[in-house]
Amino acid sequence: MSISETIANGKNMTAVAVNGSPRKDWNTATLLRHALEGAKSKGARTKLIHLYDLDYKGCRSCFSCKRKGNTCGGLCAVHDGLRDALQEALGSDVLLLGSPIYFDDVTGEMRSFLERLLFPNISYDEFGVSTFSRRVSCGFIFTMNCPEDNMELVHYDVLFERHVRVLEILKGETEILTSHETWQFADYSAVNAAMFDVAAKARRREEQFPVDCRKAFEMGSRLVEGRALSRSTAGSPGRSAPRHRPGG
Ligand SMILES: Cc1cc2nc3c(=O)[nH]c(=O)nc-3n(C[C@H](O)[C@H](O)[C@H](O)COP(=O)(O)O)c2cc1C
Repeated sequence: MSISETIANGKNMTAVAVNGSPRKDWNTATLLRHALEGAKSKGARTKLIHLYDLDYKGCRSCFSCKRKGNTCGGLCAVHDGLRDALQEALGSDVLLLGSPIYFDDVTGEMRSFLERLLFPNISYDEFGVSTFSRRVSCGFIFTMNCPEDNMELVHYDVLFERHVRVLEILKGETEILTSHETWQFADYSAVNAAMFDVAAKARRREEQFPVDCRKAFEMGSRLVEGRALSRSTAGSPGRSAPRHRPGG
């Protein structure tokens, strides 16, 4: 197959989406589904994982993955409900992550997932060096009440950058997509939420959310194309050892 054909159809690519929201059909999950559709449109096999279906905890500091002569191969040694999801994510070509913002950060479940995904793939011999043997491109979707104009005020720009930096461990490119002022309740009249302008929220859901969904679709398709291109033109994956300055 020619390079252009490979790029055109993203053959043999796998895109895995990981939903860090407890809700399976709301904003985050909907955007992830659109991103997966975009990936599928380029020929990738797709899978959606809901973290809240799984029984697991964050890194337990067992350090099995840092023990001399360990055979973890970058996969967390703990055998619990997250193991299959970690395997799927580490074996994917495109990893689509989605999380609502909860108290100025990703949800606890997403945070725990990332600890388990990434810690086995950083070196404690050499500061900031990834030991990951493959290359996975990532798209991270964040949904939130926070209006786009307030992002810097509440330092969410720093939060997103931090996630881009830490995902350098996976050695692919990382794209960020943010969706703001999301529709949070099925019925605003039934909840104590007077601080929200419901009409403005409804408008946002009608006008902006479909735009965000389209952007998610495009991100999924672009990431698969990018991976197909780098697979066709690069030699062995993981030649470089990017530094990600994890701060620990
Ligand atoms: C526990 C909790 C904490 C939240 N904290 C924030 C926050 O700090 N900043 C913000 O912009 N939105 C916050 N939100 C709103 C959610 O991020 C927003 O509604 C998101 O789109 C929900 O995603 P979902 O519809 O996929 O579940 C919070 C929501 C909950 C339930």
